[in-house]
Amino acid sequence: MFANRLKKRARHFARWAKRGGVSCYRLYDKDIPEIPLAVDWYEGRLHLSEYARGEGPASDAWIVAMCDAACEALEVPQDRLWIKRRERQRGLSQYEKVGAERARFTVSEGGLRFLVNLSDYLDTGLFLDHRATRAMVREEARDRDFLNLFGYTGAFSVYAGAGGARSTTTVDLSHTYLAWAEENLALNGFSGPSHALVQADVSRWLDDMPEAHWDLVVCDPPTFSNSKRMDDVFDVQRDHVGLLRAVLRVTRPGGVVYFSSNFRRLKPDPAAFAGATALEISDQTVPDDFRNTRIHRCWRLEKT
Ligand SMILES: C[S@@+](CC[C@H](N)C(=O)[O-])C[C@H]1O[C@@H](n2cnc3c(N)ncnc32)[C@H](O)[C@@H]1O
Repeated sequence: MFANRLKKRARHFARWAKRGGVSCYRLYDKDIPEIPLAVDWYEGRLHLSEYARGEGPASDAWIVAMCDAACEALEVPQDRLWIKRRERQRGLSQYEKVGAERARFTVSEGGLRFLVNLSDYLDTGLFLDHRATRAMVREEARDRDFLNLFGYTGAFSVYAGAGGARSTTTVDLSHTYLAWAEENLALNGFSGPSHALVQADVSRWLDDMPEAHWDLVVCDPPTFSNSKRMDDVFDVQRDHVGLLRAVLRVTRPGGVVYFSSNFRRLKPDPAAFAGATALEISDQTVPDDFRNTRIHRCWRLEKT
């Protein structure tokens, strides 16, 4: 069942991807409820991740059978598949190499290049569900000062640079991800003082920034974060009002903020959008390869 489904989706998406110039996409997303996996295609490599399941983790034998089925159905050699399991790797099979090997390579998207790592972290470095949002940012970036909050590996900053942004500023708490962002920017020919990388807690950093400084902002916070480098925990439901107020303060009048969250139960408080017009645009930002149309929610704010 799994192999047949993968073959069918692969046939469909190969055409779709070619038309859209897309080479990394979600092939399977828990389509069969009894097979709770996500399968992502990264230019001939496969990245599988296990969904949490009520009855506990899947057995090693089941995982190996699914990996075999995926490799065979999609004609991918076994050493080009990585699986992210919910529980610790136990090194029992040929697939369980996660963390042991740095499977880093570059992929293209929208004519740009990005470094991905399929083996060492839960996420790969490129969130495929924001492909369309990135394209929107590129369209709007010309001569803008662009701010990328919770910027991760800087993919939005690369797109803003490609769209002709006057400057990009990428803010993240993690040194590792900022170093990765710097590599992504450099891969696409962006470096120097007009592409700033800032290691900071976004909320605290915003408080020290001048008013009305940026024209285009992406704010894509985690649902929850309690890093050692922060004094307090961040909880998107509790903290989004204060966060967006601070973001709008540093945004120039007429400027645009893309606010996104993966927390599907987020109930935005209208107070968060005070001083801006806000429109939910998730139906335009969630791409066609995501069966789960609630993978993220995204709003476009225009500061009045
Ligand atoms: C959901 S990811 C953002 C994805 C990114 N916008 C993209 O599409 O590539 C969340 C990021 O927020 C960072 N982070 C978490 N808490 C933070 C905080 N308080 N201040 C700054 N960055 C934070 C994490 O290190 C991580 O890189």
